[in-house]
Amino acid sequence: METGIPLLPFAIDANLNPMPDSERLKAFENLGFGTLFTDHMAVIRWSVDAGWHDAKITARAPFAIDPASAVLHYAQEIFEGMKAYRTTDDKIVLFRPDQNAKRFAQSAERMAMPVLPQALFLRAVEELVRVDRNWVPSGDSSLYLRPFMFASEAFLGVRPAREYIFSVIASPVGPYFKGGSKPIAVWTAEHYSRAASGGTGAAKCGGNYAGSLVAQAEAQRHGCDQVVFLDAAEHRYVEELGGMNIFYVMADGSLVTPPLGGTILPGITRASIMTLAAESGLKVEERRYTFAEWQDDSKSGKLKEAFACGTAAVVAGIGTVRYEGGEFQIGDGSVGPVTESLREKLVGLQRGVTADPHGWVHPVP
Ligand SMILES: Cc1ncc(COP(=O)(O)O)c(C=O)c1O
Repeated sequence: METGIPLLPFAIDANLNPMPDSERLKAFENLGFGTLFTDHMAVIRWSVDAGWHDAKITARAPFAIDPASAVLHYAQEIFEGMKAYRTTDDKIVLFRPDQNAKRFAQSAERMAMPVLPQALFLRAVEELVRVDRNWVPSGDSSLYLRPFMFASEAFLGVRPAREYIFSVIASPVGPYFKGGSKPIAVWTAEHYSRAASGGTGAAKCGGNYAGSLVAQAEAQRHGCDQVVFLDAAEHRYVEELGGMNIFYVMADGSLVTPPLGGTILPGITRASIMTLAAESGLKVEERRYTFAEWQDDSKSGKLKEAFACGTAAVVAGIGTVRYEGGEFQIGDGSVGPVTESLREKLVGLQRGVTADPHGWVHPVP
């Protein structure tokens, strides 16, 4: 159930000490991922008694929270990841933000948190982007937006908290992977799993990521960019990466991706790619695919390409797969033509370069 009123008044308290233009533009020359932040943030509070209240855009600053805040103990926290793009004709657009608002609401339900009305989610994101519009870089870079909500009630009992803070922060970003558009190497975690049936795998909650870090560190130790998780029950079926969904391009031209089923994050990029692929005449199958099949099909040539997709990296070709028993290559190890063409289609839409028949592109006036 949604709680509160969407048309809450939004106060705008401008940052009196914004980063000087020259400093910001200098920083834009060498953008990494998630290390530089804009001048402002959005904040909305919720309590059992007052509902959603105190909505504002304010100077970005630390929160003062009580050491007993429930989030610090029981991890009642959810978040979203989305981007604002500067189009070639200098407009600022969001890509399918309604889908982020919807997924945020679903994550809230799963984590026994109040559901922020989707209109209020969108309003907070839009107000922040408007105030920090100079922070939206052009070209291949973008402004990564991080809406999040946490339990702020000071209380040590184990039950849903009665107070929450919703906030949006923003970070201008360049490529997610250091290698840019080069194919990535992935590590298959054969012992650690990310999500089990009935768990929180389909929610975008911080705890899912905390549990994945040891596997991600293992991936990095093996020279890999990302970890691939297998299903928790049998450790056989490929599910998704630490922060991205996965697709396979078969020799017959069809696309295969693991079905959602509650343990996988329902990626907005994944859904968009399924639509774009089907429109370009590719058969798209959501079906379970084992790690053994992945190895066999790579060797036999039945599998031509594999790619990871998500808001942060958009589409990243997978060149090499490592695991405890060794490693194998996909195709000739380079980014394949189907991956490249789907990436171009998606990026063209996101950047306002190609027509948008689906109404996915949301201008921020
Ligand atoms: C675990 C996980 N899977 C998939 C995705 C891709 O989702 P989206 O395409 O909505 O960014 C993400 C990124 O947000 C993620 O963290």
